[in-house]
Amino acid sequence: MKTTKEKFELLEKKNQDAIKGGGKERNDAQHAKGKLTARERIGLLLDEGSFEETGKFVTHRSREFGLENEQYLGDGVVTGFGKVNGRLVYVFSQDFTVFGGSLSETHAEKICKVMDLAMKNGAPLIGLNDSGGARIQEGVVSLAGYADIFYKNTLASGLVPQISAIMGPCAGGAVYSPAITDFIMMVENTSYMFVTGPNVVKTVTHENVTAEELGGASAHSVKSGVTHFACANEIECLDYIKTLLSYIPQNCDEDAPAYAYTPGNEFRPSLNSIIPDNPNQPYDMRDVIGHIVDEESFFEVHKNFAENIVVGFARLAGRSIGIVGNQPSVLAGVLDINSSTKAARFVRFCDCFNIPLLVLEDVPGFLPGTQQEWNAIITNGAKLLYAFSEATVPRITVITRKAYGGAYDVMNSKHIGADLNYAWPTAEIAVMGAKGAAEIIFKREIATAKNPEAKLQEKIDEYTDKFANPYLAASRGYIDEVIMPEETRKKLISGFEMLKNKAVARPKKKHGNIPL
Ligand code: HXC
Repeated sequence: MKTTKEKFELLEKKNQDAIKGGGKERNDAQHAKGKLTARERIGLLLDEGSFEETGKFVTHRSREFGLENEQYLGDGVVTGFGKVNGRLVYVFSQDFTVFGGSLSETHAEKICKVMDLAMKNGAPLIGLNDSGGARIQEGVVSLAGYADIFYKNTLASGLVPQISAIMGPCAGGAVYSPAITDFIMMVENTSYMFVTGPNVVKTVTHENVTAEELGGASAHSVKSGVTHFACANEIECLDYIKTLLSYIPQNCDEDAPAYAYTPGNEFRPSLNSIIPDNPNQPYDMRDVIGHIVDEESFFEVHKNFAENIVVGFARLAGRSIGIVGNQPSVLAGVLDINSSTKAARFVRFCDCFNIPLLVLEDVPGFLPGTQQEWNAIITNGAKLLYAFSEATVPRITVITRKAYGGAYDVMNSKHIGADLNYAWPTAEIAVMGAKGAAEIIFKREIATAKNPEAKLQEKIDEYTDKFANPYLAASRGYIDEVIMPEETRKKLISGFEMLKNKAVARPKKKHGNIPL
């Protein structure tokens, strides 16, 4: 029989074994690839000493292919809870040094356990993914484990924020757990995501492509938009998670944390010189954002994807807001498929988690062309329209310049439920640009004129004078006030303060049917 001391020593030995993961050689190999171990990542993410582990001694139950003799405490995933800047989070961190971080039945059970705790206790779930996929020796049992996770990801969606960091392989069906979560971060050169890898691609489509080209951080941050953040290294990735958490609440019943703010002079005269005299000259909407929000507080999301729209979090008088801004410096800020879906998903996240929305509008319309029509700009543009229309958080729009056509309606107009709509004196709110309008409505007059070019210009000027301004919309009350750019910050602080107790009751239904 063991003495009490020996029992204590057994526990200590098991604890020591568990933290070894797959052993020194495999940990060294992990480091040699420029990657941290599962426990090192948790150590960097969480406040020092705050991590409490669950399932540390869990082992797999597999008896096939000699696995009964190969057991590692924890079974390839470290799970538990801890604090980030004093706030509770749940975390799982896959350990590539144990069976390549592959997902067994018990590995999945451990993840599901922290997901359940996150949902029951209302705190964010952070997944650090680094896995060779389904534990091949377990077959369908592993697939069942994935499905359990996907199901819980869906149940948790909109209840608690879910953040996925991809820090190694994430392939096959495994990609669908991160895909359901709210934000994905990827690390340049050491992570990849794809449904089918380069070998299958070569066999089926005869394309030669590397894993990095096919599904690395660049591919997914620029081309597909699957990832919201491409990080230079793992430390940056973990820092981004902490920054992101600082803007969002613990769950759908809470508000995001408010930061200290001392009221001061809220006028920003520099905003008066941003809009060029020539309406076709671009400017950077990020400059507008930078002058409106609390200093250095803008945290851009999806920075490299669909750059014709800018989305991200910021603070205004210490409180979190979500910003959607057309970007005149890319494709003139036009709305297209990618910018619509990017913004729609961001709007829905903000609405799930009580983050007020600010829209900065300078949009010439929707992008024309066969590619847009055949790839369903109709359905995809409708996503953004739907997302704004269903949002019940405080919503304010500022039209800085163009607000043309259907895009005027879509971009958080008064008609689809915005609470306050402001326009700068430089706003042009009309069905279309003056040239296009003049060419259509004065077609015959221009064609029969002695000097058609001069006539066209005369009609453009006439249309511009009448419609390329905010005053017709203001006379209808579609615009609450035409404001000087320098007043914008002050107006927004008062506006969001006024709206802070906003409550909207929607008719009871099961759920809407957003055009997917
Ligand atoms: C069991 C696995 C494993 C897996 C890797 N390992 N993947 N063990 N199941 N899926 C083990 C290896 O045997 C090895 O063990 C260790 O992990 C490291 O693997 P290496 O191949 O040496 O590492 P590396 O060269 O870096 O290559 C990593 C890899 C490769 C690209 C991920 O291991 C790989 O292709 N694995 C298989 C991927 C795969 O096909 N998964 C199933 C996909 S289908 P030792 O003992 O040598 O350290 C899927 C379906 C999910 O996931 C569906 C959900 C609906």
